[in-house]
Amino acid sequence: MARYKIAWLPGDGIGPEVLEAARTVLDASGLEAEYLPGDIGWNMWLKEGNTLPERTVELLKRSDCAIFGAVTSKPPSDVMQELPPRFRGKGIRYSSALIRIRQQFDLFTCLRPCKAYPGNPGNLKEGTDIVIFRENTEGIYCGAEWPRVPQEFFAVRGMERVSPNAAVSVRAITRRASQNIARAAFEHAEKHGRKKITAVHKANVLRATDGLFLDAVREIGREHPKIRLEEMYIDNCCLQLVLDPLKFDIILTTNLFGDILSDLCAGLVGGLGFAPSANIGKSWALFEPAHGSAPDIAGKYVANPIAAILSAAMMAGWLGEKKKAHDIEGAVAAVIREGKVRTPDMGGGSGTLEMGRAVSEKLR
Ligand code: NAI
Ligand code: MG
Repeated sequence: MARYKIAWLPGDGIGPEVLEAARTVLDASGLEAEYLPGDIGWNMWLKEGNTLPERTVELLKRSDCAIFGAVTSKPPSDVMQELPPRFRGKGIRYSSALIRIRQQFDLFTCLRPCKAYPGNPGNLKEGTDIVIFRENTEGIYCGAEWPRVPQEFFAVRGMERVSPNAAVSVRAITRRASQNIARAAFEHAEKHGRKKITAVHKANVLRATDGLFLDAVREIGREHPKIRLEEMYIDNCCLQLVLDPLKFDIILTTNLFGDILSDLCAGLVGGLGFAPSANIGKSWALFEPAHGSAPDIAGKYVANPIAAILSAAMMAGWLGEKKKAHDIEGAVAAVIREGKVRTPDMGGGSGTLEMGRAVSEKLR
């Protein structure tokens, strides 16, 4: 019997393509796993009026962890227009499958490494090696939004400054979730010999929420005196990352800033095709490339699967298969260094599956 049960969630667009390539690599690594396919994403919205069917949630609960490709999501006006007529008028509400999984399974850590592999023509600065810790369950993603200010809000002091016909999104931050993500970052730093954590925030404006976040980070920082804690405003952080990415080691931040910074950092190391990620909770985790479904290139098998392959390596590591994780990353690094197989984002003409095979061959 296979040692691990892994939920397999290809999703939409290039999701199934990059996971197909990642699968050849996982098989070549010899990971003893059974892969359990699950339905998810925009295609399920069109078929069933639900981006995350209950049977998929049940599948996730039965698995040791999950690997996920990408999903398409759209703005509210398109979402309702594209819902098939048979589902309308039934009170169906759209929500993002990925955000639901992160919240329901309390995957509070989003870990996103951004590494410049030698030989990657897309590297902006050789030697870049940043790990982002993004809070993954709350912030502006908590889903509390109104197209108009709810009447009850006007009872709250300060609300008179808000126009009554404003749209409102709530950004909720808790001490507990901030402590959780901070602890994950400091523990990672200690375990992996990293020296510095930059806490990124906007506490001069978001005084209540980022004030609380910073306070929690400092508190956890005091328990880890060997790791240097630096604080930086989000806007300055964007500037500094572009000017001198080598100044950064670990970045620790809230949900939205982490989302944005991880695309920026991916851009430093060749683009989204090189940005893997892990969503980790107390005892379950989901691994995914940081990119989306890329409708502009979907269906052609030209997407770069390296982000998905590196996500699969992180998954192997999380399952305890450290050597396999290390070998997969080494195989990716070797293919990049050689430069014979390159997908179009790297300036080459190779396809998604060709890249998968090249990495797999290094493992054999
Ligand atoms: P995206 O990440 O899909 O694409 C951004 C750009 O990067 C595109 O030009 C795309 O071609 C390129 N790109 C992305 N992955 C690539 C790869 N592996 N190889 C080569 N090029 C790659 O983001 P975009 O265009 O903002 O969103 C497209 C859809 O994906 C939207 O519906 C969005 O909601 C969804 N999305 C889903 C995410 C997820 O499933 N985790 C994350 C981000 C967006
Ligand atoms: Mg993003």
